[in-house]
Amino acid sequence: METEIISLSPACMDGEALGRAAKIIREGGLVAFPTETVYGLGGDALNADSARKIYAAKGRPSDNPLIVHIASLSDLNLYAREVPGQALELARTYWPGPMTLVLKKTGRIPDETSGGLDTVALRMPANPIALELIRLSQTAIAAPSANLSGRPSPTCVEHVREDLFGRIDMILDGGGTAIGLESTIIDFSEGEGVLLRPGAIDREMLRRVIGELKTDPALHAPPDEKTRPRAPGMKYRHYAPKAEITIVNGEREAVIAKINFLAERDMLRGKRIGILATKETAALYPFGIVSVIGSREDEKSIAHNLFSVLRGFDEKGVDLIYSESFAQKGLGEAVMNRLLKAASYRSIEAR
Ligand code: TXA
Ligand code: MG
Repeated sequence: METEIISLSPACMDGEALGRAAKIIREGGLVAFPTETVYGLGGDALNADSARKIYAAKGRPSDNPLIVHIASLSDLNLYAREVPGQALELARTYWPGPMTLVLKKTGRIPDETSGGLDTVALRMPANPIALELIRLSQTAIAAPSANLSGRPSPTCVEHVREDLFGRIDMILDGGGTAIGLESTIIDFSEGEGVLLRPGAIDREMLRRVIGELKTDPALHAPPDEKTRPRAPGMKYRHYAPKAEITIVNGEREAVIAKINFLAERDMLRGKRIGILATKETAALYPFGIVSVIGSREDEKSIAHNLFSVLRGFDEKGVDLIYSESFAQKGLGEAVMNRLLKAASYRSIEAR
């Protein structure tokens, strides 16, 4: 399949190109587009064939439901059968924005889109290109992250091209995504909110609007029979680079010493080593391929660069990655959630 790539900037949108992208969606085709979190792979959420094509293009298991993107708050009632008061308050406060609400679905959402569940995940993205595409399509757009299943989510058009070129109809290039991690997901389908995936709308921001929030027990542990994640996607090994990652916890100096010890040892055994470091520490690692994820003074930079640093290690062909760890507060909870999943929860203490 020919994949057309079109560059757009939010400041100057090419109406003709967006119109063509919307036509592709309406006719059952697939268009990758930028959101403020990561790029999405969009298809008509109300068309079962489009949903099937999305699973096929990504190589994704079809029991893993898709997020349905809308452009106006009034569309909530078209697709959700029951909207608890707290869910509505969150939507009013943080939409458009990086937050997804799981609600009981209406009959408009086909089973293919919802992965056979009786619920639907809804989100109104904050990117103007995404919003305009949804409006022009005159439907809701089902869009998982625009990566091949198992690879890190795409935060720029090069990542989308790497994974999906030749597999979809069009890619809209809107530059790098602002946040770099996927949306926060809260499940309201059983009335009370439960956090299924941490994101840029962090716990404190949620607490300010609806008070303390429950957490899916599967969120901080490797999946097994006992902790069956409520977001089916959380059970798959996600965001994973090809190399094995080990996260090193502890005091700064101890972490640096431990990583240097392990990196030197493994290099002598003939391994290619990647080190995920910060601006503050990068110069202190003499061995291996050192990638700077961002600055500890600026947690947004760390979220923003995580997935591209992981992809970078793949390109450089490293066998093992040693990573510093980050405090689990604010956006740090989402960063550590993705990093731990990428590492298959492999972490050690430095002392
Ligand atoms: O930021 C985002 O959310 C990005 C952009 C493109 O909007 N999308 C995204 O989609 O991350 P995806 O498919 O990569 O992740 C969606 C997650 C999966 O873990 C899936 O299992 C979960 O949402 N999910 C979707 N529908 C659900 C439902 N009805 N109940 C529980 N979890 C659901
Ligand atoms: Mg994804």
